[in-house]
Amino acid sequence: MSGKKPRRRRRQRAAGYAVLASGLLVIGVAYAADTCSSCHGMNAQGTSAGPSLVGVGAAAVDFQMSTGRMPGKDFDAEMPRKPVTFTTKQIHQVADYISFLGGGPAIPSPAMVSSAGADIALGQQLFITNCAQCHNFAGAGGALTYGKYAPALTHSTPTEIYEAMLTGPEAMPVFSDTTVTPAQKRAIIAYVTKVRSEPNPGGFSLGRIGPVTEGLVAFLGGIAALVFAAIWITMKRRET
Ligand code: HEC
Ligand code: HEC
Repeated sequence: MSGKKPRRRRRQRAAGYAVLASGLLVIGVAYAADTCSSCHGMNAQGTSAGPSLVGVGAAAVDFQMSTGRMPGKDFDAEMPRKPVTFTTKQIHQVADYISFLGGGPAIPSPAMVSSAGADIALGQQLFITNCAQCHNFAGAGGALTYGKYAPALTHSTPTEIYEAMLTGPEAMPVFSDTTVTPAQKRAIIAYVTKVRSEPNPGGFSLGRIGPVTEGLVAFLGGIAALVFAAIWITMKRRET
């Protein structure tokens, strides 16, 4: 028994190195040949055309590549998604490479993003306090005051929603696991994927237009209420 252990360990270690080496070779090719390096540098150290990717983590790479943001520099959140030309396997290889270089947040496991048994009511509450000011109450997206745009959450997969919170793309803040715990993230994901599957989120299609419209409608609604109150008071006066 005891004689077997070191050999097995040695064999495992050798296999590990082999996987790592062949993996890195493939990755090196995908990363270099497919233009990440032209902007982010051969060793992902960054260039004038793109930031360093050392430490951004596998989650950031997976999010950026699986949503069609990367490779490229003129991603526009207001436009329809760009087509993704990489396979999931290739994306994971590049993600492994970036995490090998500098660590960072990992890609969440399927269990971490599953809606099964998640607290949707809590998810709604958390979405309203943390996300709705930019993405709208139904996750329908909207213009931000500083010329940026928070996209609709209609196409994001549960994994991408988790990764967006974890990595905070562009103008979106990072919601680290200490700010919004993994269980809370799961609740938010369950809420987002549930409301968007309902034909008319909130019973009204306002959510699809934007926060400005909603404010305007609330304002007009307020005026209408005042007018009705005035009419009612006048009528009461006349009666007496
Ligand atoms: C044409 C230049 C260009 C190419 C090619 C490109 N990127 Fe980028 N990348 C950028 C710029 C600029 C940013 C920062 C601005 C932004 O977020 O849109 C960025 C941001 C990122 C981020 C977000 C970093 C963070 O802090 O969260 C990741 C991850 C990333 N790129 C990965 C990649 C990968 C992987 C590839 C190859 C498949 C790639 N990029 C190809 C220019 C490029
Ligand atoms: C301060 C405004 C702001 C807040 C708050 C915010 N986001 Fe975002 N979010 C953005 C912006 C801007 C983008 C687009 C970034 C880009 O262009 O890469 C974005 C992108 C996303 C995406 C990617 C959508 C896609 O498919 O392209 C997801 C998913 C997302 N946010 C989820 C959330 C969740 C969940 C919360 C709350 C926990 C949240 N956001 C809070 C501004 C915000």
